[in-house]
Amino acid sequence: MGTIAYVDGRYVPHGRALVHVEDRGYQFADAVYEVIGIHRGRPVDEAEHLERLGRSLAAARIDWPVAEKALRIKIVEMIRRNRITSRGMVYIQISRGVAPRNHIFPPSCHPVLVMTAKALPSFDWSAACRGVAVITTADLRWRRCDIKSTSLIANVLARQDAHEAGAFEAWLVEGDVVTEGTASNAWIVTHDGLLRTHNADNAILNGITRRAVMHLAAEHGLSLREGAFTLSEAKAAAEAFLTSTTSMVKPVVRIDDAVIGDGAIGPLSRRLLAYYVEHVGEPGH
Ligand code: PDD
Repeated sequence: MGTIAYVDGRYVPHGRALVHVEDRGYQFADAVYEVIGIHRGRPVDEAEHLERLGRSLAAARIDWPVAEKALRIKIVEMIRRNRITSRGMVYIQISRGVAPRNHIFPPSCHPVLVMTAKALPSFDWSAACRGVAVITTADLRWRRCDIKSTSLIANVLARQDAHEAGAFEAWLVEGDVVTEGTASNAWIVTHDGLLRTHNADNAILNGITRRAVMHLAAEHGLSLREGAFTLSEAKAAAEAFLTSTTSMVKPVVRIDDAVIGDGAIGPLSRRLLAYYVEHVGEPGH
């Protein structure tokens, strides 16, 4: 983690970045968050992330802690103070505030803004092309996954299962439909070259990377169908990949025991990775 955090109005050394025990984010997960990618020292798709943050805040009925313009300045300041000159990420969390524990909104408290930032290893094309395995598990989350809430225990448990199984991610399954990963969106490519990813309803978080990849696919004339796909369709797919701010476009080469394609990154995944890498301004291959 970086050396400087931001807590409720102050930049503080990371080791002393503390919130109150009665912060509602801590007690109720009454908070929303964003993770913004940094490439070449600059935030990528910042406007989209802040727009989604605004939606999460509105859905949770939490006020903006500072004006959006002021938040942008703080993001730049976090990047500068943590000396992130190439790749990294900024974490932004806003809780409803600090008040004696009571489920009902407190009559007077202010939203608490917390930020951390960290550098990530520099982008490596051959590492990015390496495929990962995913496991699948029941989607036990609530029904407003479109809100980027810090209430992530179901995601944490599923991700731990994946980790213990030696997999990178867990894809969550509702009925027979793959909704998304614990911290990423799920994609497949059919044998006809059709890209598929779950539609942006309450069952998934509408990823900023997902949206960027959708635009890039359209721009390059690739065919895409936004809508649910089943686990058996996923296991029979020609290609699979996942998208997120930190994973970018990551090829998936195994789903449970099913090997996808020939077990290596597929041609469309490779193209989309290349387009996305260009989108964020990292050097290509
Ligand atoms: N996760 N779905 C879920 C459940 C997520 O938590 C995330 C992001 C995504 C992808 O969204 P985006 O492309 O905007 O990063 C999809 C972040 C990175 C996290 O929790 O660390």
